[in-house]
Amino acid sequence: MGYTAAAGASVMLPSLKPFADTNNAAKIKLAQVGTGHRGSGFWGRDLLRNFKDEIEYAGVYDINPGRSEYAKNLYGGGCKQYLEFDKMLDETKPDYVIVTTVDSTHDEYIVRALNKGYNVITEKPMTTDEVKCKEILDAEKKSGKKVIVAFNYRHSTHNSKLKEVLASNRAGKITSVDFHWYLNVFHGADYFRRWHSIMARSGSLWVHKATHHFDLLNWWLNSEPVEVTSYGSLDHYGKNNSFRGTKCRGCEHKPNCKFYWDINRDQRLVDLYVKNEQHDGYLRDGCVWRNEIDIFDKMSAQIIYANGVTANYSLTTYSPYEGWHIAFNGMKGRVESWEDIPYLEKMALDQANRHATEMSSDDKAKTNDSRQIMVMDNFSKDYEIINTPKIAGGHGGGDQVMQRRIFIDKNDNPHNIMAGTRDGAMSILIGIAARKSIKEKRPVKISELTDLAPMTNRF
Ligand SMILES: NC(=O)c1ccc[n+]([C@@H]2O[C@H](COP(=O)([O-])OP(=O)(O)OC[C@H]3O[C@@H](n4cnc5c(N)ncnc54)[C@H](O)[C@@H]3O)[C@@H](O)[C@H]2O)c1
Repeated sequence: MGYTAAAGASVMLPSLKPFADTNNAAKIKLAQVGTGHRGSGFWGRDLLRNFKDEIEYAGVYDINPGRSEYAKNLYGGGCKQYLEFDKMLDETKPDYVIVTTVDSTHDEYIVRALNKGYNVITEKPMTTDEVKCKEILDAEKKSGKKVIVAFNYRHSTHNSKLKEVLASNRAGKITSVDFHWYLNVFHGADYFRRWHSIMARSGSLWVHKATHHFDLLNWWLNSEPVEVTSYGSLDHYGKNNSFRGTKCRGCEHKPNCKFYWDINRDQRLVDLYVKNEQHDGYLRDGCVWRNEIDIFDKMSAQIIYANGVTANYSLTTYSPYEGWHIAFNGMKGRVESWEDIPYLEKMALDQANRHATEMSSDDKAKTNDSRQIMVMDNFSKDYEIINTPKIAGGHGGGDQVMQRRIFIDKNDNPHNIMAGTRDGAMSILIGIAARKSIKEKRPVKISELTDLAPMTNRF
């Protein structure tokens, strides 16, 4: 697989034969490490369904052999299950290695793949601490190969439109941002059931979850962070309850626990996790009240950017509804937007199923509704509402668009939407700085964590 530079691209995108030529062209060959929900779903089943004539899996590896076998059977074709990662690379010689393991293990596979001379696509967060971050940046540089960081949120129609509005300078120079993200008691709680709830595995939600939000901020503002001050605590989940169990299945507290969740109602989750517990003890329906939980469930931060913008950010994990709200204050006016806030949309949303719908790539997830971006000029009585089509599935439609841009439409890179390691680093470094700021009770400079010098204007 050769690489050609896409005009203005932040990463070098693969040179591929267009759709019509694929009969004669070899398919793009993938090898995957980490065949859990995201790996075997979005990067497996969905990718093969969307681009079956262009893409094939040659090999899969997971530390849990039951899950890699599940993926091998799902992907079909010539896909082989491997019990060793290096052997998989040596035998399959893939065009890309797809890394979809637990967050704290991404670095190991990214670096090993680069060192063997392979291009990598990694799920977010790129990694979970500043040391691993540097190792990835160094390995990429040394190898001459490329890492694409899969920031799917950028690619949703709504988020892309917001980028367009900001890039058009509609509100003048932006000086501050208010950005608040609300995870509901279903989706939010899910992070406290399993590995995400352990700081050493996910880097906390400052990194695991907020990497999406910090990446959006960095991209929307076209600048990079210089300093972070933050607060956070664990107020709701974990030790904050009078009772607890190990997992929901068979739990004596089922009648009294609002967070009881029956994994057996979802056959895919049973096949992926329950049937493979004997290999590694991974409990997908772990108790949200476990004493070992050591991440924050309430977080807020102030981020100062190289271009002078101050951003106020917060993340909560036990909201009655799931959604977000953002406002960009500029010298000439204000740009404001939100998603799925029931009282603003004047409708009730199914909170229990909202996350499942968002993760779905099903066409039924498309709706006739729209989302709004509000623009108001200073000294004006009027405001303008810009509508974008609402696509409930696949992270606002971003999932599939990103796949297409990575594998098929190599020149479709509006506003440098394709993300590489610099973007991956700058988003996690905000979260890592936030963690450090809480621990050390002081503002933390990004320069304490990296030798990348924050750019005033990214492009
Ligand atoms: N972009 C998005 O919107 C999005 C959505 C969901 C998940 N993700 C990311 O995808 C990745 C996977 O998440 P998931 O929800 O599928 O989790 P998961 O727990 O379902 O899957 C993780 C897999 O990694 C395997 N694994 C763990 N340690 C390993 C190791 N050392 N070596 C090899 N395999 C190992 C596990 O056995 C499991 O199969 C995470 O990085 C997560 O942040 C991204």
